[in-house]
Amino acid sequence: MVTETPKEEVANSNPLANSRIAFIGLGVMAEAIAAGLLRKGLVKPEQLVGSHPRSARREELYTKHGIEMFEQNREAVEAAYPSDSLSGSLVILGIKPQRLTKVLDELKGSLHQDQVVVSVVAGAKIETIADELLHASVVRTMPNTPAQIGEGVTAWTSSDAVTELQEQQVRAMLEALGKTVRVENERQIDMATALSATGPTYIFLVMEALIDAGVHMGFSRHVSQELVQQTILGSVLFARESHKHPAELRNMVTSPGGTSAEAIYQMEKGSLRTVLSKAVWAAFQRAEALGGTRKE
Ligand SMILES: NC(=O)c1ccc[n+]([C@@H]2O[C@H](COP(=O)([O-])OP(=O)(O)OC[C@H]3O[C@@H](n4cnc5c(N)ncnc54)[C@H](OP(=O)(O)O)[C@@H]3O)[C@@H](O)[C@H]2O)c1
Repeated sequence: MVTETPKEEVANSNPLANSRIAFIGLGVMAEAIAAGLLRKGLVKPEQLVGSHPRSARREELYTKHGIEMFEQNREAVEAAYPSDSLSGSLVILGIKPQRLTKVLDELKGSLHQDQVVVSVVAGAKIETIADELLHASVVRTMPNTPAQIGEGVTAWTSSDAVTELQEQQVRAMLEALGKTVRVENERQIDMATALSATGPTYIFLVMEALIDAGVHMGFSRHVSQELVQQTILGSVLFARESHKHPAELRNMVTSPGGTSAEAIYQMEKGSLRTVLSKAVWAAFQRAEALGGTRKE
């Protein structure tokens, strides 16, 4: 079970206290970060600024979260770096990959040396961002869609210029989306792209197939969905709490000649493991290919 730290405890240990955060491109993922930070009491609305090209979206974000919004991306970067006492300034790149080159070009040379850039843009390499921005401190992250409800997992890695305090701030910020895993290099970001960022797709497909199987047997779609969703949720929580290997848990419910044994036989015959392994590997190769060619 994921638990939230009470707000009073946060105040003493919060590396984001007195920091400012600018969101460049406040879409689904960046809003999930901002909302998570506010919900957990890690920042106050006045610590956040953002930029967005559409005025309706700017108004929506101000009304919903109290985030000061700018039309120009450079203005948001500047507003996240006030002259008063400040213990860190983070600039989050939340735009789509297709917009990255244009936005980096706009922001070129506008960052202060002690600001840290945090990119959630899929496929965008640290070197590309650092070179385009003329800025050395860059963190690359790879969240996944359950981040939108604070149950995601985000892999991240940083350039050598990122300080220890900045890393603590980034980790605290990403924890607003769920769990975080610091990986060693960008190859592992591509690996996480295939496993955890693409991961919900595998699970949703399995979920859909099981629900359809329930309907095939005669359950209504509603009942089948309820049974499947809670089975998947409960199995994950049980596996986590029992600390047992999945094979051990599976063996516990596989009696000789029983239903599980029959079902496992069919899944192995259909090469389910091989198909999953091939799918993850294909996604990894795709992530590497996109990262190598995505320059726009
Ligand atoms: N969503 C996920 O689960 C997920 C998971 C992993 C990684 N990511 C990465 O997160 C990034 C954002 O994804 P998202 O799903 O949050 O996309 P999104 O909702 O489309 O967010 C991007 C936002 O940027 C705005 N924008 C467009 N041009 C801009 C510009 N020139 N300057 C500033 N803002 C601009 C867009 O406005 P309009 O609405 O007007 O286009 C949109 O609101 C992507 O790079 C993606 O690879 C997302």
